Amino acid sequence: MIYLDSSATTPIDPEVSKAMWPYLNEEYGNPSSKYYTLAENAKRAVEEARGHVASLLSCQPNEIIFTSCATESNNFVLKGVAHYYKNKGKHIITSKIEHKSILETCKFLESEGFEVTYLDVDQYGQVQLEALKDAIREDTILISIMWGNNEIGTLNNIEELAKYVKEHHPYIFFHTDATQVLGKIEVDLSKVPVDFLSLSAHKMYGPKGIGACFIRKRELGLRTKITPLLHGGSQEDGYRSGTLSVHNIVGLGKAAEVAKIHLEEHRAKLLELEEYLVSMLKQEFPDIKFNGHPEQKIPGVINFTIPGINNELIIRGLKDEFAISTGSACSINEPSYVLGAIGLNALEIKNSFRISLNKYLDKNKIDHFIQNLKKHVERLTI
Ligand SMILES: Cc1ncc(COP(=O)(O)O)c(C=O)c1O
Repeated sequence: MIYLDSSATTPIDPEVSKAMWPYLNEEYGNPSSKYYTLAENAKRAVEEARGHVASLLSCQPNEIIFTSCATESNNFVLKGVAHYYKNKGKHIITSKIEHKSILETCKFLESEGFEVTYLDVDQYGQVQLEALKDAIREDTILISIMWGNNEIGTLNNIEELAKYVKEHHPYIFFHTDATQVLGKIEVDLSKVPVDFLSLSAHKMYGPKGIGACFIRKRELGLRTKITPLLHGGSQEDGYRSGTLSVHNIVGLGKAAEVAKIHLEEHRAKLLELEEYLVSMLKQEFPDIKFNGHPEQKIPGVINFTIPGINNELIIRGLKDEFAISTGSACSINEPSYVLGAIGLNALEIKNSFRISLNKYLDKNKIDHFIQNLKKHVERLTI
């Protein structure tokens, strides 16, 4: 199988599974238990992992809360801020092309009486600062804008957006969903003043079922208060109760450590493969059109339209040997709202594909894919 759907999930790095193994076997202690070695070992492993995640983001370890996935982190921040600060205001701003875990949470909050502004994006899928400025109201409490889009790969200028908000409206919280960008571009939270950030291990060669949430410390080291999703034993300083998933946390920590050490190398590899793939696609399909921003994009993620070619027929035709997709794995049964928001019509959406690369691919595999894609496209067009 040649796996070209790495925005859905990445293959696990063998270094990550090796690091996790002891914590699935002999090191099974509960990090919240006290005094005995097995618990202390688990606690140490959790704190080491927290340190690696913090280092990847250039923040403090005590600004990281472990969750079960980015969906949970997004729910936690949106519902947590909305519920805790509802007396300050009931208005939230997001964009039309966020992941479903943001959009559906916003819909849920609307059902509770919150008001949500869904910002339009431009033809490349970027949120414009002017549009954000115009949407801010007296009663706005939270802005949530994704760092990079999972379907078209477009990056937002989160530094510019967050700096504007924090300079002009310091009491409005700014959240970003960075699930798709970590390990592929630099994310330095000492420079980008977001209050909250969501991430997930399985998009950066880590295990599924583990994510994290960055919560910025305020002046005097005070933590921003938000209402937890899970109440119980007060793990994670009460932000997220539930026994910590130590093996998964260790996996996330190792994935973050590897991502930090090899960031430049990984980025360069994805860019090189992407450039090669794009040139081959252009050569074989002269009327191909690429979607999303041509430069401000996640390395290794491309989205393109081949007029007249039904994406589902091609994907099914290739399925035994190649994994590619029409877009988000979380909205598989409906036409892409992301492509719709950047101006594609229903037919163009049906002719569109997403390919997302990973570090285990090479040019030979891409050649093999292109030959097969060509064969299937020819079969459909005869
Ligand atoms: C941008 C974005 N946010 C959130 C998620 C949800 O991640 P998880 O699978 O960890 O819940 C995804 C997954 O595709 C994503 O691409």
